[in-house]
Amino acid sequence: MRAHLVAAALAALAFACAAPTPPPLVQPLPFSHKVHAGVNRIGCRYCHAYAEHTTVAGVPSMARCFGCHKFVSRDKPEVQKVVKTYQEGKVFAWARVYRVPDHVFFTHERHIAAGLACQTCHGQVQEMDVIRQASPLTMGWCVDCHRERHAPTDCLICHK
Ligand code: HEC
Ligand code: HEC
Ligand code: HEC
Ligand code: HEC
Ligand code: HEC
Repeated sequence: MRAHLVAAALAALAFACAAPTPPPLVQPLPFSHKVHAGVNRIGCRYCHAYAEHTTVAGVPSMARCFGCHKFVSRDKPEVQKVVKTYQEGKVFAWARVYRVPDHVFFTHERHIAAGLACQTCHGQVQEMDVIRQASPLTMGWCVDCHRERHAPTDCLICHK
């Protein structure tokens, strides 16, 4: 019975590894980076304001959305949903796309300070209607770049 379960788990794992790119996550609202960061050229850091100073990049607050959408496109139903959510004091629970396991320490601050563009790791976000994972986030991916750019590769840099 146990062996059976282990085999099933391994099969599931193998399937997960062999599976093609997973479909995009379902978001509470279709948010387009192409419309915002591409067509309308709103800077990444205007919305992801923490990236420069902290470990996380953060997603924008509803107040930040409302700052523009109290004026912009008030006639569009999706925008009305944004305004209504803000006015009710609620927030959208955006599904996470990028995540490293808990045993890995990653910080945005140091990478931004080293002069890396967001696109180096996240791809051409300004061309995406739906955000998708553009880098594998494996240990090899991190370490290869650290070697290339003479950044530290001690285990304890990434595993605290
Ligand atoms: C700096 C200003 C600004 C901010 C901040 C902003 N938007 Fe927008 N948004 C725009 C502009 C400009 C458009 C395009 C309007 C148009 O073309 O009609 C737009 C369009 C949209 C649309 C309609 C998309 C479409 O296909 O036309 C939605 C939905 C939307 N925004 C949601 C949001 C949400 C959610 C946030 C907060 C996370 C947000 N916006 C923050 C300026 C902003
Ligand atoms: C108008 C605000 C706005 C702008 C400008 C913006 N973003 Fe975002 N970003 C969001 C929102 C809202 C989400 C959450 C919804 C989603 O994943 O699409 C998000 C999600 C993301 C994610 C996925 C986070 C995760 O793991 O779930 C990445 C990566 C990202 N943005 C990068 C960028 C980059 C790079 C730029 C500039 C090219 C940029 N963003 C410009 C609002 C913005
Ligand atoms: C060196 C690669 C790298 C660069 C450069 C980078 N990111 Fe990230 N980003 C990551 C990784 C890895 C994660 C997952 C981190 C985690 O799970 O703790 C992530 C997560 C995110 C998230 C979701 C989680 C969060 O931190 O809030 C957003 C949003 C994001 N990045 C936006 C940006 C923006 C905007 C820029 C440019 C200002 C940027 N990133 C630059 C690698 C990078
Ligand atoms: C595209 C290249 C690139 C990728 C990919 C990358 N890094 Fe880095 N990383 C750097 C550079 C450059 C520095 C800056 C070193 C410095 O400040 O001298 C750095 C610094 C760091 C630091 C701070 C080091 C210190 O001295 O304290 C940590 C932690 C880190 N990276 C973790 C990660 C993790 C975890 C990943 C993968 C999820 C990753 N990095 C992916 C280029 C990269
Ligand atoms: C630049 C960052 C970085 C450095 C340096 C690094 N790791 Fe990792 N490590 C990661 C990331 C990211 C993952 C998660 C990979 C994944 O989920 O696919 C990971 C995962 C692991 C795992 C879990 C097993 C696995 O495959 O998920 C072990 C064990 C590990 N690392 C050991 C080490 C050892 C030992 C060193 C030093 C020789 C080291 N790491 C150096 C980023 C790093």
